[in-house]
Amino acid sequence: MTDAAHDPAAASPDPVAAWRRAAPDAVLLDGFHALKHAVRFGAEVLTALTADRAGALTLADELAEDVRDAMAALLTEVPYGTYASLVPRPHPTALAALAVRPGRADNLARLAHAPRTAPVVVLDQPRNLGNAGAVVRLAAGFGATGVVTTGTLDPWHPTVVRGGAGLHFATAVERLTVDELPPGPVFALDPEGEDIRSLKLPDDALLAFGSERSGLSPELRARADHLVALPMRPQVSSYNLATSVAMTLYHWSAAGGAPS
Ligand SMILES: C[S@@+](CC[C@H](N)C(=O)[O-])C[C@H]1O[C@@H](n2cnc3c(N)ncnc32)[C@H](O)[C@@H]1O
Repeated sequence: MTDAAHDPAAASPDPVAAWRRAAPDAVLLDGFHALKHAVRFGAEVLTALTADRAGALTLADELAEDVRDAMAALLTEVPYGTYASLVPRPHPTALAALAVRPGRADNLARLAHAPRTAPVVVLDQPRNLGNAGAVVRLAAGFGATGVVTTGTLDPWHPTVVRGGAGLHFATAVERLTVDELPPGPVFALDPEGEDIRSLKLPDDALLAFGSERSGLSPELRARADHLVALPMRPQVSSYNLATSVAMTLYHWSAAGGAPS
């Protein structure tokens, strides 16, 4: 059910070849909501394929009127088998797109921009891709300046982007070493720290969280200005990483920080 007037396939005779050319360097947007968020937050979308263009546009009419026309201009319909052959795992909305990964220099400039009006979240050597995606989604929701990871996990890994629902384009996501962290006071979250309820977290803070397995690294501890604890009964060892980020960003926002 293609609409020739709005169908990029009309201009590009082989959308599958175009997909295969772009895929190695591009960010995979998996499903309707990932494409919706990416378009909404200014991603450069290279190609978007769906096995159900009419269904996607009905969803856009219901849930994303602001980007409906932009999505209609991007989406090319292909047979379901073609769509499924191009993605690791078909999505229930039978839609996938490829977008340009934002440049590192741009991200570094956004992370270092002063005065900073919302914190940067630092995940110190995270291991779990799902946690990292959930944190990107939280950072986008709270209007954080960015999410930085240290260590080996790529915060643009397809599983992280899937967990982030396309919201990588709403905040600056980059991997750095501890030495490369942008300026600003580091508030490192640790159960042995000072109770967060007695603190006001400043807008220019770097909010740092340790890895799921071993907590904060010695390098991050050395860079920390404050150790901060979330309220927790003594018998409980720790909270999940992403829920710790959620509580901390909520605490920051409760004092009046973004979102508006
Ligand atoms: C799953 S925990 C790490 C547990 C790890 N076994 C350890 O030794 O710390 C992941 C991160 O969440 C944050 N976190 C979890 N519970 C916390 C709490 N009660 N107070 C402050 N931070 C906490 C810390 O940054 C911690 O490094």
